[in-house]
Amino acid sequence: MSNNYRIVVLLSGSGTTLQSIIDTDLPAEISAVISNKPDVMGLSRAQEAAIPTHVLEHTAYESREAFDHDLQGLIDEYEADLVVLAGFMRILSDDFVNHYSGKLINIHPSLLPSYKGMHTHQRVMDAAEPFHGSSVHFVNAELDGGPVLLQARLPVLASDSIESLELRIKTKEHLIYPTAITWLAEGRIELTDGEIHMDGKKMTGPVVMDYM
Ligand code: GRF
Repeated sequence: MSNNYRIVVLLSGSGTTLQSIIDTDLPAEISAVISNKPDVMGLSRAQEAAIPTHVLEHTAYESREAFDHDLQGLIDEYEADLVVLAGFMRILSDDFVNHYSGKLINIHPSLLPSYKGMHTHQRVMDAAEPFHGSSVHFVNAELDGGPVLLQARLPVLASDSIESLELRIKTKEHLIYPTAITWLAEGRIELTDGEIHMDGKKMTGPVVMDYM
């Protein structure tokens, strides 16, 4: 199904997250996929699905602001209602983030606000945490710090390796990210003054999907 709600997806790599969005019957259309790296699998996945692709190499730019300026121009050509970060390995400038306030989401592999930043699976295992997960959140100026809409929560198993844990997390990410995008496309979610409202009611915390 498709309607006039337009999504632009930004990625840097393999694009399994993009694939889960492509494979979901969303009330939205994926207008374009933009990568900051050439020749990545995520671009092939988009092309396979007949979605327009663009490569904007950050290495060609002297500053983050200059790159983000051109990235913003490209996204805005598509009049995106929502910008979806799907493994986009770039820190975004404040101007960029502010321009898309309430329209820019990310999925981060931890139960935010715990474990912001990189190497979350390793850090969770090192700390012998009983639970791990992934969070869909609005992006604000603080790295991995924006309001969290939806989480998948899983137990860390005694038998887990980093690889098995990452795989189990990704499988659930591929369910919750399309779900969150669907809610947004349906107009059920609003971000007002840094607070998420769902169906007109202020959320006191994220929706948590437990996979125990
Ligand atoms: C996902 O695990 C997501 O949590 C993180 O980046 C990863 C992207 O994976 N933000 P892929 O490139 O979509 O396979």
